[in-house]
Amino acid sequence: MVPKKIYLDVDTGVDDALALLLASRSPDLDIRGVTCVSGNVPVDLVVRNTLDVLEVAGASHVPVARGMDVPLLETMVNAAEIHGKNGLGGIEIAQSVSEPLSVHAVEFLRRELTDVSEPITIVALGPLTNIATLIRAYPEVVSKIDEIVVMGGAIGPGNVTPTAEFNIRQDPEAADIVFGSGIPILLYIWDVFIKVAFVRSEIESFSNSSNNSVALAGNLLMSMLDRFGRPKTSIGDAGAVACILNANAITAKQLPVAVELSGKYTRGQTVVDQRPPDLADLEEGDLQVVMPNTIRVVVDVDVNGLRDTFVEHLGK
Ligand code: RIB
Ligand code: CA
Repeated sequence: MVPKKIYLDVDTGVDDALALLLASRSPDLDIRGVTCVSGNVPVDLVVRNTLDVLEVAGASHVPVARGMDVPLLETMVNAAEIHGKNGLGGIEIAQSVSEPLSVHAVEFLRRELTDVSEPITIVALGPLTNIATLIRAYPEVVSKIDEIVVMGGAIGPGNVTPTAEFNIRQDPEAADIVFGSGIPILLYIWDVFIKVAFVRSEIESFSNSSNNSVALAGNLLMSMLDRFGRPKTSIGDAGAVACILNANAITAKQLPVAVELSGKYTRGQTVVDQRPPDLADLEEGDLQVVMPNTIRVVVDVDVNGLRDTFVEHLGK
């Protein structure tokens, strides 16, 4: 099988690090570049963490570019209380000697997409600021993007607010631009994100591995277990990568999706219309809303299938 070419856009944090480890170790994926965006931590720390994690995975050859450091309109917050001040749950890893590219992430992606012979997949695991800026600045690249796999949004409760998930809430305007671009989207939502998890005994076995990538994954997962004192913890963004590696493990539906931009309590919510057609099509005059986009939403996953994919490919 020819490895699938992908670009990752990350805000490396703990679970982005798990996604980088998984994607780097899998022989089925060919990471053509990693772009960094502020999110879990400020972008310069995202770059640092990304370079260091790629080094552990033996992927220091992968180009890394620094991207947008603030959202399009929203004020910048971060998630240090989740990912720790260093963004890696306090786990210290050796500093890579690699340096990021001198070119901005958006310019890097423009150059790459201009040159590709066939459309590629972007895996977006942070706020969508880089991707939205790319689409707005260089609309000609839209035809070069086969699909964007986005970790973001929620049908049920959010995480950062009662209705919104962090990546979307951190830059709702960016998400609105990306969802409305016409590029096929696969949305890996919070509802399934939290299901793909491991318990302490499994995580301890990872940490004891002689494989550096597996051991680092174990330590990162353990940092989350210890921080929150829960019986299990999710592989987070790595689940979105696992969906690419094991497409049979997902149930996705083409659904109308809008990003709420103005709600006092709902800004950043991904409004997903799951009404039956006979109800959704009713003309209720001024009460009706016209949903702007229809995108593929991962509404369920084979949890054990994705867990197995994570373990199998990480250990290669
Ligand atoms: O809400 C979870 C998402 O926000 C994950 O991608 C996590 O890394 C943060 O970016
Ligand atoms: Ca992330």
